[in-house]
Amino acid sequence: MENTLREGLCEQINKELYSAYLYFAMSIYFIEINMEGFAKVIKNQAKEELSHAKKIYNYMLSRDEKITLKDILSPDNNWINPIDAIQGALNHEKFVTESIEKLFEISKETKDYATEIFLQWFIEEQVEEEAKFRTLLEKMQSIEKCECEIIHIDRNLKLDEEYIE
Ligand code: FEO
Repeated sequence: MENTLREGLCEQINKELYSAYLYFAMSIYFIEINMEGFAKVIKNQAKEELSHAKKIYNYMLSRDEKITLKDILSPDNNWINPIDAIQGALNHEKFVTESIEKLFEISKETKDYATEIFLQWFIEEQVEEEAKFRTLLEKMQSIEKCECEIIHIDRNLKLDEEYIE
């Protein structure tokens, strides 16, 4: 594997672990403001991010590539309200999408076909992740004037979302 691609995949492991850390912080925020439904969704998201990091880690091991693990930054957690937090989640997913697309471009440029195919799963996953937060955000923004409606969304999320330990 070409070195820029190898380093980029190591960086991506770090970004996925940071994503999990960010969503753990966000779930704490929602627990603190008594919104258990949002907390449940975000805790599940944190778990998914850990699985993304592991997926890249396993792929690199299967390619016999050296994995370098870097420091994980503390996440920003100064959300002013639930909409701000979910907007933050959407912004973060857009950032991750750009990062994955960059890796995809490098794998194409360096003719690393296996990595190109491997990354296709992540490209599809990012479409889903952005859509999940965009839909939630739009729902929240449409009723932003009444906080009781945000509480109603939270109750529905609590009922609908199956929590995965
Ligand atoms: Fe693994 Fe949400 O990107």
